[in-house]
Amino acid sequence: MKPITELVKDLADRHGRERRNLLPILQGVVEQEKYLSEFSMIEIARELNIPVTEVYGTATFYSFLECKKMGKYIIRICKTITCSMKGEKQILLAIEDMLKIKVGETTQDGKFTLLETNCLGFCHKAPAMLINNEVYTELTPEKIREILTGYLNDKIIGGEHVN
Ligand code: FES
Repeated sequence: MKPITELVKDLADRHGRERRNLLPILQGVVEQEKYLSEFSMIEIARELNIPVTEVYGTATFYSFLECKKMGKYIIRICKTITCSMKGEKQILLAIEDMLKIKVGETTQDGKFTLLETNCLGFCHKAPAMLINNEVYTELTPEKIREILTGYLNDKIIGGEHVN
């Protein structure tokens, strides 16, 4: 893991220092850090020579750019219509029950953050969720327990990798 200052500099070298390069730079920071801290936003503003408010405005505009510290594993459960009709609530309850957190929260050990998201494009295999870049489909509470037990032991099981 690179220190933020170095990471931002490398990203700016790679993508350029124009305003239009802001988004890939933000995404690059989120990829490593899982979220955008105030410090990284200040570093980006300095590197691109733009106001911090502009960096902040862009970061908060996009829901996939998290501005809060996130867990090592970010669970995003689909809340859109097909998944919600196919048992999203039961899946959510199973996760909440197992990890003892609610949507929007992170476990105390910093391992999991639970979020809801819009359609993941796997409606034909609903209900679906993402854990970092792995997608899990046709979920049941039993399947959730199996998947999360794997993650609790840092073993990533099943899932299809998406980018
Ligand atoms: Fe959930 Fe499309 S509605 S993946």
